Amino acid sequence: MTTHTIDVISGDGIGQEVVPAATSCVDAACATTGTTIRWRHRDWGSERYRRHGAMMPSDGLDQLRDGDGILLGAVGAPDIPDDVTLWGLLIPIRRTFLQYVNLRPLRILPGVQSPLRNPGRLDMVIVRENCEGEYGEIGGRSYRGRPEEMAVQEAVFTRLGIERVARYAVELAEQRAGRLVSATKSNGIVHTMPFWDQVVEEVAGTAPSVALEKVLVDALAARMVLHPDSVDVIVASNLFGDILSDLAAALAGSIGVAPSANLNPPREFPSMFEPVHGSAPDIAGQGVANPVGQLWASALMLEHLGESQAAAVLMSAFEGALADGTRTRDLGGRASTQEFTQAVLDRIAGGATNPAGRAR
Ligand code: NAI
Ligand code: MG
Repeated sequence: MTTHTIDVISGDGIGQEVVPAATSCVDAACATTGTTIRWRHRDWGSERYRRHGAMMPSDGLDQLRDGDGILLGAVGAPDIPDDVTLWGLLIPIRRTFLQYVNLRPLRILPGVQSPLRNPGRLDMVIVRENCEGEYGEIGGRSYRGRPEEMAVQEAVFTRLGIERVARYAVELAEQRAGRLVSATKSNGIVHTMPFWDQVVEEVAGTAPSVALEKVLVDALAARMVLHPDSVDVIVASNLFGDILSDLAAALAGSIGVAPSANLNPPREFPSMFEPVHGSAPDIAGQGVANPVGQLWASALMLEHLGESQAAAVLMSAFEGALADGTRTRDLGGRASTQEFTQAVLDRIAGGATNPAGRAR
């Protein structure tokens, strides 16, 4: 029997509701394939920050290092600045463990309504660079409070950083439709983006079966709305990937269903799996949060652990529950988090699985 050790950080707000839902469904799915998950629960987040002045212990990263993966809910609290919560937990994990791919698969799940009148076939994966680019610490502010006040923020692009994320995206495109769109802005950002274009092109050139298209990010945003079926795999820098993936999540029907995987592809360090949504303070504590984003992220985690069968069981169980009409409020239904979770557990227990359940 295989056992995987997973660190669980439920975090803030609805993270406290959707993470327990996900761990119970993962346990049930793994039981059908004879796999065990050893959960290591971490009470890290804003509550800890209020008590101890830090989101996680000073040796927190070391505590995660020997695990097989990290399942994260969300962090963020209305009374604490977002840069404290984000840079105190999420970003150090992503960067220390070189989780340089942020993978976000998106498609319209059964029973979910896209806001598009005619979404056609919307089934795409966004591969976002996750360690460098526009999100950096280099910069500063001067002359605070004076008319001369100014801020400078530098973007950092390295050949190694672009190559490794492009390689991941190219290999994914090879496994999918053989089409790769690279988001660029080389007409306005004249140093880093032409470099990005050049390196992505070099990497794609090594894969003759992949057709690469470079598209300006503003035009790409419009195209995702007007012709979502013309896009399959997208590779994008940290900032562009962040924005495009929220757009894609909205097109697919709800931010509550979108998953994300922060991957260290060489598996030198643990990878981290989380929903795209945040802590949703407006609905936290009401028991109405949609657990699908957390469930889908958990299926990506199972796939990463090599447990494809358990991942498929989990995917098809929640897709089946949605198709049956069990839906939370954000999807126009009335089910509570608990009721939806129970419907998923019932389907897993009933063995009503569709082997086609696919996480990405
Ligand atoms: P949010 O994603 O938390 O919420 C946006 C809207 O979507 C809200 O109306 C919320 O009720 C709804 N929503 C989100 N997830 C839902 C779900 N599972 N079921 C039903 N409805 C759902 O984004 P917001 O409000 O901008 O941020 C709230 C906090 O979360 C902030 O502190 C922010 O920094 C943090 N955040 C953290 C992230 C993370 O941990 N990776 C990602 C995004 C935001
Ligand atoms: Mg975002």
